[in-house]
Amino acid sequence: MTLPKNFLWGGATAANQVEGGYNLGGRGLANVDLIPYGPTRFDVMAGTKKMLQFEKDYYYPAKKGIDMYQHYEEDIALFAEMGFTVYRFSISWSRIFPQGDEPVPNEEGIRFYEKMVDECIRHGIKPLITISHFDCPIHLIQKYGSWRNREMIGFYLNLCKVLFTRFKGKVHHWITFNEINMLLHAPFMAAGLLFEEEENQEQVKYEAAHYELVASAAATKLAKEIDPENVIGCMLAAGDNYPNTPNPEDVWAAKMVDRESFFFTDVQIRGSYPAYAVKMLERQDIHIPITDQDRVLLQENTVDFLGFSYYSSSVASADEKLNELREGNLFPTLKNDYLKASEWGWQIDPKGLRITMNTLYDRYQIPLFIVENGLGAVDIPDESGYVEDDYRIDYLAQHIQAFKDAVSLDGVDLLGYTTWGCIDLVSASSGEMKKRYGFIYVDLDDQGNGSGKRTRKKSFSWYKQVIASNGESL
Ligand code: BG6
Repeated sequence: MTLPKNFLWGGATAANQVEGGYNLGGRGLANVDLIPYGPTRFDVMAGTKKMLQFEKDYYYPAKKGIDMYQHYEEDIALFAEMGFTVYRFSISWSRIFPQGDEPVPNEEGIRFYEKMVDECIRHGIKPLITISHFDCPIHLIQKYGSWRNREMIGFYLNLCKVLFTRFKGKVHHWITFNEINMLLHAPFMAAGLLFEEEENQEQVKYEAAHYELVASAAATKLAKEIDPENVIGCMLAAGDNYPNTPNPEDVWAAKMVDRESFFFTDVQIRGSYPAYAVKMLERQDIHIPITDQDRVLLQENTVDFLGFSYYSSSVASADEKLNELREGNLFPTLKNDYLKASEWGWQIDPKGLRITMNTLYDRYQIPLFIVENGLGAVDIPDESGYVEDDYRIDYLAQHIQAFKDAVSLDGVDLLGYTTWGCIDLVSASSGEMKKRYGFIYVDLDDQGNGSGKRTRKKSFSWYKQVIASNGESL
């Protein structure tokens, strides 16, 4: 058998893309609630258009999600039917601390996640919890400027303490921040950052990144103090950047784009700022207030595993004119003529997964965990809600084969695989429902209309037999 017997199989979601119930159970408002559907979405995500309250004429998809808040039992039962041994989900920070800075948490919010955790365990599914998947309570943005402020570390640790204490012995696998490098690409969506017009955005972003990195290290420390059995991961939006040509200038350009992301995991896994980052910050005149205490914390509290998302590789060039043609969503890329692309222009590169895993494992030599991978596609259900999603099966089968190769032929240590959006959910970049990733179809459209009914797609029974055979039968 290629994969180890205890290999973890499952799926992943994020609170703001599935839960809905934005005003139920004492929940406070968060940045993710206030990102509208439509063309304005990108400016809001970027932090250049300020929208800190609901405005009429806009639809806000996170308010409803797929209403997992009310459907979690049914949804987890479906995951169990597929044989999941792990389910990755995230916490809505403002469910537990509605404002973010209050001394006492909201018991009703904790109870909701307690029920989710218990439901998973009842079905033999290990919860893998992402503590922060882009969420930030609005009050923390208004009063403190979100992660541009060092005080955020303490508020985040209050949340961690509640989680580690209440779920002690039940949850062992944690991720501190989802796609921590997304902060550079969608600063409001990923970290609640808003910018003033004349402000040096790079300075703000890297300072905020520092506070998140320190918070991540402090959370790792706390997790181990509360329960030494806790296993902590960082999480990177990954995917190697290929040079557009063998011209050394292009090779160098691709390396530079890779480093924008490795900057984060270098700190979280190696425990200090890498030399190239120190130089880059100096060159850009960016000043990070790193204290001696920060340095010790970062050095002594590195993570146990590297979680990452992989959807595609990218192509980079040194030619600025060419770069203007870069496409994609939050991580722009040049077109790779050797690859086909999804309906959203995301290039499909299973071999790139094996390449990326080798890059990461060569660099860090700690266990990897693929915590997101999948194909966003338009699905057309029949009258009973059944979808023949052979394109999704193809995509997943090829990526599973690629990671099996990385494990069996290259010796990469891989803990598990959770496909993204195991149940259809709201897209993070576009806010659409029609960009579907799931094994389970959810009858809702881009405006939240529909019955919300869940039905099994063809990929549902396919993934079930993949899991049952531990990845042997694709
Ligand atoms: C990752 C995020 O960036 O990619 C998810 O962690 C997101 O939240 C996923 O949904 C897929 O992206 P999209 O834009 O297709 O939803």
